[in-house]
Amino acid sequence: MPEEQPDHDAAGKNRLISLSLPILARADFGQRHPGGLLPVLNSMENQPFFGKVALVTGSSRGIGLAIATAMAREGADLVVNYRRSGKSVEKAEALCQQIRDMGRRAIAVQGDISVKADVQRMVKEGTEAMGRLDFLILNAAIAPFKPIEKLFEKELKQLVGVNYTGNILCLQAALPHLEKTDGNIVFVSSLGSRFYNTSYPLGSMKAAMEAVVRDCGESLRDRGVNMNGVCAGLVKTDSFKVLRQLWEGIEQIPEELFLQPEEVADVVTFLCSPSARAIRGQTLVVDHGMSNRLYHGG
Ligand SMILES: NC(=O)c1ccc[n+]([C@@H]2O[C@H](COP(=O)([O-])OP(=O)(O)OC[C@H]3O[C@@H](n4cnc5c(N)ncnc54)[C@H](OP(=O)(O)O)[C@@H]3O)[C@@H](O)[C@H]2O)c1
Repeated sequence: MPEEQPDHDAAGKNRLISLSLPILARADFGQRHPGGLLPVLNSMENQPFFGKVALVTGSSRGIGLAIATAMAREGADLVVNYRRSGKSVEKAEALCQQIRDMGRRAIAVQGDISVKADVQRMVKEGTEAMGRLDFLILNAAIAPFKPIEKLFEKELKQLVGVNYTGNILCLQAALPHLEKTDGNIVFVSSLGSRFYNTSYPLGSMKAAMEAVVRDCGESLRDRGVNMNGVCAGLVKTDSFKVLRQLWEGIEQIPEELFLQPEEVADVVTFLCSPSARAIRGQTLVVDHGMSNRLYHGG
């Protein structure tokens, strides 16, 4: 049985009213919402993730940013995570402001997922600020683009430390909170988990994590937590700019086979929704069918 919990719906409503005040202050509010505040509140309450909280690792840019935005659009409050100081802080704060403008709560928490103390602080700060955790989206990743046999020890440690150990550390830290909310975990994988590319050692970590998705889909069942994954095709983000330089023949891939970050985000939100309740321990391929045509890369 879950521990005694605060009345989240009531807390959500109170929060919503205070958050709505800046919106009400806008001069054009009356024109856009002639029915006044109540219809707006009601429409927010009808959002599937209203009153729920999502933590998205690596959401200062790229696919993570699209996922955080999509989760907020569905009504969730957000814990936005990023790793680096400087530009990433500005990007994470800008995203939080954008989410607040949508009437949701958001905080940005810096932290390297490969560092246990960072992960524990991130989850602590996130849950203390938001009061609960319903969704953990394991999106952050970083890896050198070079053949696996050429990795320096430091690069190898980063490869495993961020992309395997880091994800498990996040899962372990978030689990006590997810248990209380019958929460969901979604891992963002890539086609490198199943297809060879000489410059993509990250693929082996994605494959390992897809096995974790299957295992945790089962092992967390009795604790009320579900885990699934999204295996995404190619998305033109910052990391893709580097891959493009190393992948011979990438220019031949038809434009229609590339994904928009929002298309990955839509499937992540679906997996968090009640509509996906029958999907457990699975990683769904989302690639516009690119893998059907065997564009492995060189
Ligand atoms: N792009 C693609 O074609 C593609 C395809 C399939 C799957 N994916 C997967 O989708 C996910 C996002 O990819 P992306 O292309 O959007 O990546 P990206 O543009 O390179 O962004 C990476 C994000 O992860 C954060 N990050 C990196 N290392 C971190 C760490 N140790 N701790 C915490 N945060 C960290 C970065 O924070 P900073 O801003 O602070 O650096 C940034 O927010 C990854 O798991 C990737 O493997 C990507």
